[in-house]
Amino acid sequence: MKVNSSDFIISAVGPDQYPDDGLPEIALAGRSNVGKSSLINKMINRKNLARTSSTPGKTQHMNYYLINELMYFVDFPGYGYAKVSKTQRASWGKMVEKYMSERETLRLVLLIVDLRHPPSANDKMMFDWLKHYDLPMCVVATKADKIPKTRWDKHIKIMKQGLGVLPGDNFIPFSAEIGLGKDALWELVDGYIVP
Ligand code: GTP
Ligand code: MG
Repeated sequence: MKVNSSDFIISAVGPDQYPDDGLPEIALAGRSNVGKSSLINKMINRKNLARTSSTPGKTQHMNYYLINELMYFVDFPGYGYAKVSKTQRASWGKMVEKYMSERETLRLVLLIVDLRHPPSANDKMMFDWLKHYDLPMCVVATKADKIPKTRWDKHIKIMKQGLGVLPGDNFIPFSAEIGLGKDALWELVDGYIVP
């Protein structure tokens, strides 16, 4: 998709704040600081529409970004941030679970992982959960620019094995820094938002 317009719509804390226009939604899940907001910015050619930060835990609500008045990216708060209280973690879990299992306009979940490292226990849990509920998903392994190109294949293999990605599952290596994977991801997203 060629992005002509992108707008921040709402920072939602619950279902009554989700948009009700029925447009398709692409949700992004991943651990805190993994690069979810940066990925959105790269996809829409904006420097900082989705707020990014080197401090983990920046995105606390579900942030809705409207693209070409056609679809939404829904930026989730990251999981696995140590400084978050138990109560906060539980309410995060509930919000995400409710959204993922009940949101009719949800078309695809992008599970964002860090290509530099094997998947965390939380990454694996999220992957298994999405599989269990049979939600359309794509694993996006980002920050590829942080490792030498010659080691990409090795890291991709470790990531796929660690998560249990099967042949035929969507998997895209990505970098918000150098734009790797951007075209492939748009092609995939385009395929999921067609009515
Ligand atoms: P939360 O909102 O806290 O969950 O974090 P997030 O997943 O939205 O991460 P964010 O996009 O804010 O990025 C975190 C840090 O990683 C920032 O300092 C980004 O500049 C950096 N970063 C994100 N993606 C990439 C990438 O592809 N390459 C490099 N080199 N840095 C990246
Ligand atoms: Mg963020």
